[in-house]
Amino acid sequence: MGQWAGVILAAGAGERMRSRLSKTLHTVCGKEMIRYPVELLRQLGIDRVVVATSPANNPDVRGLLGDSVEYAVQPEPQGTGDALSQARGALANRVEHLLVLYGDTPLVRYDTVKQMTTSHLNHGAVMSMLVGSVPAVKDLGRVARDESGRITGIVEAADGEHEPDAPGEINGGVYCFSASWLWENLERIAPGRTGEKYITSLAAAGAAAGSGVIGVETQDPEELLGVNNRIQLAYVEGAMRRRIRDEWMLAGVSMTDPDSVFIDADVSIGQDTLLLPNTMLTGGTEIGARCEVGPGSVVRDSKIGDGCRVTASMLEGATLEDGVSVGPFSHLRPGAYLETGAHVGNFAEIKESRLGPGVMMGHFGYVGDASIGAEANLGAGMVTCNYDGESKHRTVIEANAFVGCDTMLVAPVKVGAGAATGAGAVVTTDVPPGRLAVGVPARISRPETTD
Ligand code: UD1
Ligand code: MG
Repeated sequence: MGQWAGVILAAGAGERMRSRLSKTLHTVCGKEMIRYPVELLRQLGIDRVVVATSPANNPDVRGLLGDSVEYAVQPEPQGTGDALSQARGALANRVEHLLVLYGDTPLVRYDTVKQMTTSHLNHGAVMSMLVGSVPAVKDLGRVARDESGRITGIVEAADGEHEPDAPGEINGGVYCFSASWLWENLERIAPGRTGEKYITSLAAAGAAAGSGVIGVETQDPEELLGVNNRIQLAYVEGAMRRRIRDEWMLAGVSMTDPDSVFIDADVSIGQDTLLLPNTMLTGGTEIGARCEVGPGSVVRDSKIGDGCRVTASMLEGATLEDGVSVGPFSHLRPGAYLETGAHVGNFAEIKESRLGPGVMMGHFGYVGDASIGAEANLGAGMVTCNYDGESKHRTVIEANAFVGCDTMLVAPVKVGAGAATGAGAVVTTDVPPGRLAVGVPARISRPETTD
């Protein structure tokens, strides 16, 4: 799409959100709204993208999108037409066609916009816009047509000229423009009743001049829904959530009760994984194939291998290799890393620790700042006492060690390979490999084997 450039408008005041956070930085399914149009333009192969920001939100938007796009700052929120004219400096005379998207309409689909660009070119139109029929026009722009069905303009709700509850055809806020026509006509648009310059006034200007202004209709009016307030934010989130679930089910993921499953936009899930009710997969979570997650699991920014089971548990920033099982009712915190075949049962908390292959921790306990060797057994109620009130210390448990029930490992401390601790031991010194530590404080009791 070489002769095309994209412009995304995100400089509005967003007053109806009643938020300190800029509107397009609010998230929909865990992803900032502004990222949806940016990624859509990338998917279309449009490299030149200018984002119109306000002086207030420019640092945050820039912080999020970095140098992947260019920026045009609109000094005052004087309307979508004014915001678009700010992008002219970055683009003038360098592109033939422009695709303009709003930062607050994340449901617009790739296929639809692709089709719009094609019909824009096929019709030789100067302005094409995405339109569709909805049961209530609400605060959106209504499309006006003459008797022959030609678009004559867009009537804005802000100008008070339509019934919000009446059905009608609305403007979705996605436009293709011939760049030369746009720059020439944008300067001429007069402000609406609110004093703002509307991009949508270009429709009437083009229609009056007999230039090609066309509407491309979507059959899925949900695509047209923008976010102006938090009710719309929740609605759009719900629609996006359904869409994401449907995509995963079509890709081979099962859900017994899809309505109770929440999957963020950036999550990935492998084939034949089963998601049980009341499960949330958020952030950048990656789940492998043939896993069973839930019921009642929350998995945030975690990586889960193939064939794992996570039942009624919470994972945050955790990594599970293949064949790991967790839960019910355990909490894996950032830095928890469970190697192949490890098993963590109920009421365990693990943080910043690596559990080697086949480690068993069947019951309640706390493992923090530790590394646990292969096949070690961690008894019920064992605790790594990692914090002395001032700083954190590490615990090392080597391969095949057996940590007895209720053992307190006072870090820094090491339990050697094949060593054991007795029930209730308070271990304050290292236990050599193959030895047994018992008591409070623990003494080394089992003699060294001599064979
Ligand atoms: C706009 C359209 C309306 C359409 C609806 C679709 C106009 C005048 N109206 O209304 O026809 O049905 O979107 O969702 O365009 N923005 C700026 N600078 C500004 C004002 C807005 O960059 O001065 C940005 C906003 O950040 C937002 C986008 O433009 O991302 C749309 O603005 P918004 O105020 O939400 O327009 P709507 O009232 O939703
Ligand atoms: Mg809007």
